[in-house]
Amino acid sequence: MRKFLVANWKMHYGPVKAGAWIRAFRRERLPKDVDIAVAVPFVSLPAARASLGRASVPLLAAQDVFWQDDGAFTGEISPSMLVELGATHVILGHSERRIHLEETDEMVAKKAQAAQKAGMVPIICVGETEAQRKKGKAEVTKVIKQQVQAVLQVLKFDDAARLPIFAYEPVWAIGTGKACAPQEAHERHVHIRELLRKKAGDHANDVLILYGGSVDARNVAEYLSTTDIDGALVGGASLDPRSFGLVCRASSTA
Ligand code: PGA
Repeated sequence: MRKFLVANWKMHYGPVKAGAWIRAFRRERLPKDVDIAVAVPFVSLPAARASLGRASVPLLAAQDVFWQDDGAFTGEISPSMLVELGATHVILGHSERRIHLEETDEMVAKKAQAAQKAGMVPIICVGETEAQRKKGKAEVTKVIKQQVQAVLQVLKFDDAARLPIFAYEPVWAIGTGKACAPQEAHERHVHIRELLRKKAGDHANDVLILYGGSVDARNVAEYLSTTDIDGALVGGASLDPRSFGLVCRASSTA
């Protein structure tokens, strides 16, 4: 399976800086055996797309979406609006949204369903907090199971082009420099795939499960060489286009 890297800028870079990032990143030597996407703030999608020109790498992703396609929902952005702006993927249920905006599993599920319906690939983030991890493995398993099962009820697995993507992102590893040990991440990925298999059968083998949390150019290859880790969601190390270029090259096995 081809590896997939997603840069998550979070709330960084308005249109001017986004355009410059894309132009600089396009000058990087990029591997051919890795798929690459960049998740940019809503307002920067048009500039990112304009800077891409005819290039199709990186793919464009959004960092959230609303579950209705139009209507009286002040401040929200619909899936079809994102499609119109050229976004093919959307990150959903990132722990920063679950924590700061109190997004629930139910909301994430509604968003995932709407994104798929509009033809986008949802990238669903799951993962335990530090406090949950301290309670032990049974608690971590329970938390992840609950987060995954909430979306499994609504996701479709019958269209290969729109298969959902999952990202295991232990909250304690995000932005802390305390990356999760690859073996520990591997166990979580195997668990997530088992849950997917119960719902989607053999399609589960084709679902990409990414690891996220303090990934950088030095540790990415170890994650990607671990079975069941199909790619990475990269925050801090994606803010500089050259540093993300390094991550991309370190991910290649060519
Ligand atoms: P990080 O963020 O790479 O800065 O830890 C990852 C994420 O939040 O997706």
